[in-house]
Amino acid sequence: MFWQIKSYEEYQNAYKKSLSEPEEFWGEIAKSFQWKKEFDSVQSGDFKKVDVKWFEGGILNITENALDRHLEKRGNHTALIFEPNEENSETKKYTFQELYTEVCKTANMLKSSGVKKGDRVCLYMSMVPELLISLLACARIGAVHTVVFGGFSAKALSDRINDCECSLLITNDGGFRGEKTIPLKEIADEALKTCPSISKVIIHRRTYSDISLQNGRDFWWHDLQSSAASECPAEPMQSEDPLFILYTSGSTGKPKGVVHTTAGYMVWGAYTFRNVFQINDKSIYWCSADIGWVTGHTYLTYAPLINGITTVMFEGVPNYPHPGRFWNVIEKHKVSHFYTAPTAIRALMGQGDHWVERAELSSLKVLGTVGEPINEEAWIWYHDIVGRKKCPVVDTWWQTETGGIMISNLAGVTPMKPSYATLPLPGVEIVLKNDKGTDLTGNNIEGNLCIKRSWPGIARTVFRDHDRFKQTYFSTYEGYYFTGDGCKKDENGLYRITGRVDDVINVSGHRIGTAEVEDAIDLNPHVIESAVVGYPHDIKGQGIYAFLICDQTLLDQEEIKKSILKTVTQQIGPIAKPDKIQIVSGLPKTRSGKIMRRILRKIASGETENLGDTSTLLDPQIVEELKEGKV
Ligand code: WT7
Repeated sequence: MFWQIKSYEEYQNAYKKSLSEPEEFWGEIAKSFQWKKEFDSVQSGDFKKVDVKWFEGGILNITENALDRHLEKRGNHTALIFEPNEENSETKKYTFQELYTEVCKTANMLKSSGVKKGDRVCLYMSMVPELLISLLACARIGAVHTVVFGGFSAKALSDRINDCECSLLITNDGGFRGEKTIPLKEIADEALKTCPSISKVIIHRRTYSDISLQNGRDFWWHDLQSSAASECPAEPMQSEDPLFILYTSGSTGKPKGVVHTTAGYMVWGAYTFRNVFQINDKSIYWCSADIGWVTGHTYLTYAPLINGITTVMFEGVPNYPHPGRFWNVIEKHKVSHFYTAPTAIRALMGQGDHWVERAELSSLKVLGTVGEPINEEAWIWYHDIVGRKKCPVVDTWWQTETGGIMISNLAGVTPMKPSYATLPLPGVEIVLKNDKGTDLTGNNIEGNLCIKRSWPGIARTVFRDHDRFKQTYFSTYEGYYFTGDGCKKDENGLYRITGRVDDVINVSGHRIGTAEVEDAIDLNPHVIESAVVGYPHDIKGQGIYAFLICDQTLLDQEEIKKSILKTVTQQIGPIAKPDKIQIVSGLPKTRSGKIMRRILRKIASGETENLGDTSTLLDPQIVEELKEGKV
């Protein structure tokens, strides 16, 4: 592909051109994709009005780019390798031709189930090929997919379904994940008690669990899909038609339905993928993320297929049935490019090098990380032990809202530095600002990470709440997209993400809002008030620490704690369970009643020496109690 950057000099030129002549730069790249009708303009709108548009006037279908386009030359090339949870059960492979047929049949199944262009379809599934196929089937007919991670609770699922009024739900009877079987259909049944918009449920059978089917509402995938026609014309979509909605947490309120549109997302995902990972036609690429998160959308599903290469999908978890599983998967499928999260790297690092060393990993060429800051020790272990010092490590910074990678080295092309995401991708104009909003200039600076201009992959809105979109991302610094992350720039101009500067916790690469956890905890009848903060955690990056004021009539603290964990699991899911709970008699509040989270964060992190100014506290004495009771 002419837009693949092959040297540092080419990177510098591409970067410069992307800012000086963005229309020409992105226009040329976008033309290398398949359009039903080419776009009239490259870009319009800005971050002041928050009305960004890319490739307007264009008509396309993203699945024609991911599938049809490859059929002639690479129809027999492997598109998808499915590695099941059980190590010895059978791998499934799909060529581009086979995947195309499955997607068409599934698209026809959706159509005959009444799904129309623009309808929202919820996917609450485990990591089986039919999940990836369902995403593409929705896109094929212009339905908007909204995937809800299979670890979320019934309440979280119903909240999301209701927020975007999905008409149809696809789920599995159950999902295999390591030793566990997740009762997806049962959880969905619970959720659907409060989801009036859902008229049909399609169930893909995976675990053969005992489930109940509701007459007239529930249908088996295999009954409907097997009889569907194997050709389905791709719906003509406008560039700015929505492709998917994905819910993500912020510092306030309920999770937001982030909306991505078609053409810009496609171009950004494909462009960043090829350049960051430096793939070629023979690459076998494995992204270990779940499709329930944005990484699984962009870099497991869309970008590899659009680039015509093999993508590996793994149903299980890193340590099942043993801590060498990841490395065995790489060996078995001769994976050349591997992309995972720092949490997994840290957890596997703790299991000892022998698990890695006994696998034959000579196929590996590039290693990637995503989702949270990677510490130097984990970076070096990944590079030296997993990559045997021969594979560049790409540390890719991005967000659900950015659609694709924003800051990263390009494998083997631009410099790498442990724990640094390093340099922005072409089109990404970074500004670091201090709390007053002043731009920081030069090198050796640290501030809040902002982006000055739009790029093709940026989310366009929050579903049915554009004001919230504006408010959340564009009001802190007017005219700039504010990421919520802190960032350092070193003496050579390389960037290092330091973590969230807002009330968002990043647990194992999953974003969780402190307010969301507090709202869940507050529903527990024993709780009077709660405050939740993050603290450094050796494996997860950050852990969740909850300070609670409780009704003392139930005296057994262990009982209270258990009951809190249950409430959070019911309201959100196990991923939001606090790692530590401290029951307290009061919280550090200012005279105006505001909780001083800064103090709580320090106590939770064990930094009790220097708590800063506590003179504005209503009751400074409470701090001593909190320090003493730290768990
Ligand atoms: C937040 C976004 C992007 C896909 C997965 C997470 C953190 C992400 C890095 C990285 C340091 C990172 C940021 C960001 N983050 N990648 N390479 N280094 N931090 O998507 O759930 O939208 O979370 O993840 O804090 O804001 P997300």
